Amino acid sequence: MERAVAAEESSTRSLVTLTFGREMSTAEVESLKRSLGARTALQVPSTVDAAYARAQHIGFAKSCCPEVGAMMSVLAAAVPAGGRILELGTGVGVGLAWIIHGLRNRTDVEVVSIEIDPKKSALASSVRWPDGVTLVVGDAKEALPTLGRYDLIFLDVPGELKASLLDGAITALNPGGQLLIDDMNPYWGKGPIRRPLNGGDPERLLEDPRVACALLQYATGMILASRLPD
Ligand SMILES: C[S@@+](CC[C@H](N)C(=O)[O-])C[C@H]1O[C@@H](n2cnc3c(N)ncnc32)[C@H](O)[C@@H]1O
Repeated sequence: MERAVAAEESSTRSLVTLTFGREMSTAEVESLKRSLGARTALQVPSTVDAAYARAQHIGFAKSCCPEVGAMMSVLAAAVPAGGRILELGTGVGVGLAWIIHGLRNRTDVEVVSIEIDPKKSALASSVRWPDGVTLVVGDAKEALPTLGRYDLIFLDVPGELKASLLDGAITALNPGGQLLIDDMNPYWGKGPIRRPLNGGDPERLLEDPRVACALLQYATGMILASRLPD
């Protein structure tokens, strides 16, 4: 049965996130939007919904939120033919499910996702992913320099690690490749996110001459970067 999982409680109430275990008709979506007073709806596909359910089952609350996941879908859809996508921090596979949703039925794109916790990685691996998807158990910090170059990277490890992986992630981007970093909104959640000081902040990416960047301050907040030509 479909359900509305998160209505943003702003004065405009403009966004509602819908998850559903089946395709909904436009009329059904419109009716839900009307009943919830929402102007727009972000729909969570059933494959992604199943991944959120896996996370909920083990009490894992660090999966990317639907707004960030949808952004990964959009970026994945734009990866060139024969391209490569890397996720740093698989969790239980929510971000990965959004990436695969963006790729639809494409089989030309290689997707690698790395997770340090074998239990979470095993849970993510319990699902049948399309050919071309590889889940790696390991430390992203050690593995990143050995994984080659990518057209899209999702940097989604815990805060303090993000800064230390930043340089390696930019180095691993093909020219024109894109990097999305999650959890960059310091005002999201219960209080300001504590960031490492002394140049350890991922926001220093905004000044890196190798990339063009935008700070997207909605949902959990993201930095989106495109690698400039070498
Ligand atoms: C924010 S969660 C990832 C969520 C996932 N990207 C998603 O959207 O569903 C961060 C993950 O990074 C993993 N992690 C922590 N340190 C790591 C490391 N050194 N290498 C790889 N993964 C790591 C954590 O175990 C956790 O599952």
